[in-house]
Formats: sequence, structure tokens, C-alpha cells
Amino acid sequence: MTSVLPDQFWMPFTANRQFKADPRMLESAEGMYYTDRDGHRILDGTAGLWCCNAGHGRREITEAVSRQIARLDFAPTFQMGHSLPFELAERLSEIGPKGLNRVFFTNSGSESVDTALKIALAYQRAIGQATRTRLIGRELAYHGVGFGGISVGGLVNNRRAFGPLLPGVDHLAHTLDIERNAFSKGLPEFGAEKAEELERLIALHGAENIAALIVEPMSGSAGVILPPKGYLQRLREITTKHGILLIFDEVITGFGRVGEAFAAQRWGVTPDILTCAKGLTNGSIPMGAVFVAQTIHDAFMTGPQSAIEFFHGYTYSGHPVACAAALATQEIYVRENLFQKGIELEGYWQKALGSLAGLPGIIDIRTVGLVAGVQLAPDAAGPGKRGYDVFRHCFENGLLVRPSGDTIALSPPLIIEKEHIDTLFERLAEAIRKTA
Ligand SMILES: Cc1ncc(COP(=O)(O)O)c(C=O)c1O
Repeated sequence: MTSVLPDQFWMPFTANRQFKADPRMLESAEGMYYTDRDGHRILDGTAGLWCCNAGHGRREITEAVSRQIARLDFAPTFQMGHSLPFELAERLSEIGPKGLNRVFFTNSGSESVDTALKIALAYQRAIGQATRTRLIGRELAYHGVGFGGISVGGLVNNRRAFGPLLPGVDHLAHTLDIERNAFSKGLPEFGAEKAEELERLIALHGAENIAALIVEPMSGSAGVILPPKGYLQRLREITTKHGILLIFDEVITGFGRVGEAFAAQRWGVTPDILTCAKGLTNGSIPMGAVFVAQTIHDAFMTGPQSAIEFFHGYTYSGHPVACAAALATQEIYVRENLFQKGIELEGYWQKALGSLAGLPGIIDIRTVGLVAGVQLAPDAAGPGKRGYDVFRHCFENGLLVRPSGDTIALSPPLIIEKEHIDTLFERLAEAIRKTA
């Protein structure tokens, strides 16, 4: 295959040679649609990459960004300040789960995760629990690509080439259980008992050696894996009982995806630390954030006033242009009630998903809020081929979906309307039929 694009760009998470020989190039975006460079309109079934919850081309964000870059393009936040991250943190703490009212800014989900893990470790030390150094993650989890994130993450391809990773990490079993839960609507009935494995790990290592447990309340990247009813509550009870911090990675579920601002709120479980990114700025400018319980933050605020309390931060933490984008984004979310859309449209969305039933090779459909995973039986040629074929077919027919192995993940912008939902499922059904 010969490349029809310049070869210099080493593309992330992409089959570079295959893509460069037969590229899919996006040129512009507006509302629910991308336009490719041949002028075809493509319905965005994935909010870009779980990012653009308010849809594309939002004028308020563009204007806020261009005003800000002209006024103050960059300002350091190390021993210096400007008003925007203070304002944004205040605003976010009103939107986030109660009690998580201290906010650390990053530039991505990966950085949010590594920041959260470092806060957890340093906190345990600060309260005199320095033996708590172990971290627990979960199989099939995606927590970004930093060394912390891949250590607690549970996707083998993201881990296998990178050596021993962080020491002292264990993983809970994942909660995907197609045998018992196939085609469940909303949270699956079976599997809450998988949380009890945490007790087993605690019995093995001693609670006094464990700093934190990190989970995605709903795993997105591994193909939309939902928490069984009661599972997150049980994780909360066990972690609280043993003094282990609970971190929710809400990089995907944050900002309305499952029907409240955060999954923590929809499912009534408040973690000690919560990570986010993506929808924070509607994907427009890179930015992430870590919400922290005030009690955790306050444990750092001891010692002399002149001492730096936490030796961590990024050059771009609280970047003025990213803050301006985030403030404009949050205003849109609230004004247009977008955090409620996942609940308002859930019934229609689930009914439309039901129209896929009976199509060849579907082995499970998982859905909640405005997200869904349609899992297909693997092709005889190997795992992932079926998912890729459906993705290709959809793209050629004007629909962007996200393949994760043989699961097609759907997470449209929250501005989606019923007509878009109908179009989305018509195009997806056709692709599933044609590629069977
Ligand atoms: C749950 C979760 N955590 C972390 C990340 C990493 O985010 P980023 O790609 O912005 O580093 C992702 C990205 O999809 C994610 O889904």
C-alpha cells in the first residue's frame, strides 16, 4: 500500500500504513455533522472522541477563545495567577458532586489520572499513612497512556510493550458478563458481587498498604461496560471501611454522557477524587481537571505558609485560553440543559437501539444515557475485523461510530434530536447487515 499523505505525522492509536494509504480526512464541523474533504456530511455518532457534548462549531466557545487569546495568551500558574482558573474551579465545584470542591487543572485525561494517583499517594502520607502505597485498578479499564494510567489500566495492548510499569498494583475483575446480562437496558442486574474481590485483595495485602482504588464508573474505551446494580455502592462501602480512597475516572462519563453532569451523581455514589477532561471544553482546547474532596485537599494545607504543599503541576495547568473555552462550554451545558438530555432521550434512544435486534451477529447491546455499545460476534478472520468493517461502512455512508474491537460504541453530541437518532440507527443497521 502506498501512502497518499505526507508520512511524517506518526498518528496515535492508528494503523498508520493502512490509514495513510486510504485516509478518512475531516475538514470542518457544525452541529451534529462533520464534513469530509470530499464534501460529504458525516453524522457524528461519537461526539468526536467522547468530547463534543455540545455539538460542533459552538460560536460562544470560538468567541470566548479568540477574545481570551488576544487579551492574555499565556500566564504561568506556578507562584503566579490570573483570574480564570479560580473562576472555573468555583464554577465546576457547583456542577460536580457535593463535597468535591477543590479542583486541580491538567491538559488531558491521562494527566488527570496520573495527578489523581499522585494526590492519593501523597494524601495518605500527609495523614501519617505512608505505608499505603499500593494502587488497585480493574481489568479492561482505560485510564489514559501515562505510566500511572497504564499501570492501573487493564487493556493488554496498552500495557504489554512497556516493561514492568508501576510496582504494587492489583486489578479487580472486570464486570462484563454477557452470559447473565446480555441486552439489559440500563444497569445490568447481575454482578454486584464482583466488588467483593476488593475485600479479598485487602485481606491479601492489608488495608494499611493500599492507597486507592480507581475505576471508570462506566468503562467506555473497552466497549461500554456498565456497572452492575449495586456494584459501585459496594465499592464505596468497602473503600470507606478500610480507609482506601475511591477515584472515579469520569473522562468519558463526565459532562452529561450518562444523564447527569457526572456518573457519580446519576448513580448516587460519591468518590473521594474524580478525573475529567474531553467534555470539559467540548473538546475545543485540550484541558483536564481533577476534583478533590475538600478534606483531602485540606490535609495538604499544613506546615509553614511559605511551603509548596504539593510538588506537582503542568506548565499549562489553568491555561487562560483553555479556561475561557471551559467557562463558555459550561455555560452552554447549563443554559441548554444538556446534562439532562441523557435522561430525557434515554427512552427514545433505547427504543431505536432495539431496532437493531435480529440483525446478524449482534451478541449484546449495552446502553445507558446517551451511550451504547453494540457488540458483534468476531469475524472468522480474527477479532476486531468485524468492528472495523462496520466502522468503515458507516463512515462511507455518512456516520461516524467508534469501533472498540468488535463493539461499536455510540456517544453522540447531547444536542442530538430524534431525527438524528433515527438516521444514526438506519445507517448503523445497514452497515451491520451489509458487512455480515
Ligand atoms: C476513562 C478515560 N480516562 C482517561 C482517558 C485519557 O484521556 P486523554 O486521551 O485525554 O489523555 C480516556 C480517554 O479516552 C478515558 O476514556
